[in-house]
Amino acid sequence: MGCQMNVYDSYRIAAMLKPMGYSETSSWENADLIILNTCTIRQKAEQKAFSFLGRLGKLKKKNSNLIVAVGGCVAQQEKEQILDRMPVVDLVFGTHALSRLCEHVYHLETCDDRIVDVTMSESVHEPDIPVDVSKPGDVKAFVTIMQGCDNFCTYCVVPYVRGREISRQPDKIIEEIKMLANSNIREITLLGQNVNSYGIKQKLCSFAELIHRVNDIEDIVRIRFTTSHPKDLSDELIDAFGQCHKLCHHIHLPVQAGSDRVLKRMNRKYSRDEYIRKVNRLKAVCPDIAITSDIIVGFPGETKQDFIQTLDLIEKVGYDSLYAFKYSDRPNVPATRFSNKVSEPEKSERLKQLLTLQEKLTLKKHKDMVGTTEQILVEGLSKKQASDSHKQYHWTGRTSTNKAVNFSFPIHHKDNGAPLTGRLVNVKIIKAFSHSLWGKPVDIESERMSSKGDNYHAA
Ligand code: 5AD
Ligand code: SF4
Repeated sequence: MGCQMNVYDSYRIAAMLKPMGYSETSSWENADLIILNTCTIRQKAEQKAFSFLGRLGKLKKKNSNLIVAVGGCVAQQEKEQILDRMPVVDLVFGTHALSRLCEHVYHLETCDDRIVDVTMSESVHEPDIPVDVSKPGDVKAFVTIMQGCDNFCTYCVVPYVRGREISRQPDKIIEEIKMLANSNIREITLLGQNVNSYGIKQKLCSFAELIHRVNDIEDIVRIRFTTSHPKDLSDELIDAFGQCHKLCHHIHLPVQAGSDRVLKRMNRKYSRDEYIRKVNRLKAVCPDIAITSDIIVGFPGETKQDFIQTLDLIEKVGYDSLYAFKYSDRPNVPATRFSNKVSEPEKSERLKQLLTLQEKLTLKKHKDMVGTTEQILVEGLSKKQASDSHKQYHWTGRTSTNKAVNFSFPIHHKDNGAPLTGRLVNVKIIKAFSHSLWGKPVDIESERMSSKGDNYHAA
């Protein structure tokens, strides 16, 4: 559940458990071990975790050997209280306990016990040998480059459940990415709560320098990163968009609110004007850059006038898409104690208004792309795909600006029978929808052999 860091951690967990004899099963009934990696960023996410755990009781009755483990941010926040509330749970492991997971699972396989491990540490645990978090057929992978956050935005639980900001050593990151490239991964997303402050605290290299190093890795063709804090968006990083040809033309730059009064109460440490200036610099260096953002509506004390400023900022920046959330109180964070809470119906109304505006902007951007040719990194067959009578298949991939593009093409390439997954294809855009584009392939990158000599992976 939750953010991309959890996706990365879940892949790591799966890779770590493999040598112990565990493999994935598609049915809950067959599982000997169920691990729930949780998120607590908003109230809804936490509720989702508990309601999932509530449904596992039936499985435990059928299989008394079943081990249920809860990891991630809810585990770190609720600690041993999870054991009291959820009798089905055998293991609670916090955000810094991942490296001890196998030990705990081994203990539970042999002893009838319950374990809570929520110890936090000052350093990042690096495995002796880098863990390959890719799966066969994957084209893109996440790599966490730092953990934790030092920003303490007044609404946010992350600094409490993920701890202080710690960056991984650049050499370890590069080693991991090279290994992924060797497993046919072509696109890397560098992950952290605040990636653009990477390395500063520990005096490692800067984030822009790290991107330059990834840019030099031969088999990687695309680089993305998330999430950036606007206050730490340096000129050096903005310039990297003009210098590193593999760096995708997209930045996720959460603004959270468009009113200076609200930004101050959120402790965001930038003003509306400073944000707009940085956006303008990005657009000057990289004119087609796609900008996306996170916005919270109904922060305590947000007036209608404040909210109108947020709508105005959305139009001024011209976001490509937005993640918008209704504010929710989180345990122990300052905003929970703020007065002037906005009512639920008012929050819903503001959210609706904001999403309607953004849908209009997104659709216009998509329509403007009709007639252009975009380079797509093909991720595989589209989920909705149905082969038509001419043995055409629907493929899916993304533009550098992170827009989903679907197109039709026979499953086998005429020359060598290799599928398209993992290849760069130039696609002429012919139709625009609100969440995706439809196009016609005009040029396909020739077959690429991996350094291991493998053929392309099957879709
Ligand atoms: N309420 C609503 N949204 C929140 N976010 C973080 N904390 C809260 C909260 N208490 C949102 C922010 C952040 C995103 C990951 O979740 O917009 O950028
Ligand atoms: Fe939370 Fe702010 Fe840190 Fe983002 S920068 S994780 S919103 S405290």
